[in-house]
Amino acid sequence: MRLILLGAPGAGKGTQAAFICQKYGIPQISTGDMLRAAVKAGSPLGLAAKKVMDSGALVSDDIIIGLVKERIAQPDCANGFLFDGFPRTIPQADALKAADVKLDYVLEIDVPFEAIIERMSGRRSHTASGRTYHVKFNPPKVPGVDDVTGEPLIQRDDDKEETVRKRLEVYAAQTRPLVDYYANWAKTDPAKAPKYRVISGMGSVEDITGRAMQALEN
Ligand code: AP5
Ligand code: ZN
Repeated sequence: MRLILLGAPGAGKGTQAAFICQKYGIPQISTGDMLRAAVKAGSPLGLAAKKVMDSGALVSDDIIIGLVKERIAQPDCANGFLFDGFPRTIPQADALKAADVKLDYVLEIDVPFEAIIERMSGRRSHTASGRTYHVKFNPPKVPGVDDVTGEPLIQRDDDKEETVRKRLEVYAAQTRPLVDYYANWAKTDPAKAPKYRVISGMGSVEDITGRAMQALEN
């Protein structure tokens, strides 16, 4: 299974990716998680990316495309993978097409903008694994602590309300056009294009997982 999870910041891509990846036995490729790992390691890429991410803007297409190409060449991607947060611009989607990476599905998780601010402000993350929680909607068993490792959870630097608003603007301008890009491709060239599926991202985490699993079965 090779698929793209598409959706606004805070739509629940990371949350649902964990379940989908477990079911299909495929790695989650989150460009956001990869960039945050580079920031944590203090690498030159991380130092440059931190400023861009904290402003709510996007890291350059060349850097992202290079990172992803390197990642999908790894042996654990041989049976498939899930892209979370990639592609995020038309040039990134074109690069994927040009590299002839065959995809089975593009799954869009649709959440209205109003719901997003509340989700982001209550998010808590375990950086090493990419697991996310929400203080109200999806709390960890022990407050402030990751369920699996017992390590402390953090609040992402880009989850400040002002940065979230900027990220939503950037999504509308640069990423939202991918909805038409993939929906039209699926219509005009169904033999080659990935199947395009949209599910509502409103409701409980379990309900949405159910919708996602169903969408990926037909
Ligand atoms: P990235 O890490 O990709 O962030 P994002 O797309 O903005 O998405 P988020 O991780 O914020 O949201 P999510 O959809 O994963 O939601 P989650 O499951 O956590 O990117 C960060 C930055 O890196 C970018 O701004 C950019 O600078 C850079 N970058 C990354 N990729 C790039 C690329 N390809 N090109 C250029 N730059 C790139 O859920 C959110 C919250 O809601 C959580 O608290 C969760 O517990 C809660 N929640 C989940 N489901 C529900 C539910 N059903 N009901 C209530 N709450 C819920
Ligand atoms: Zn995420």
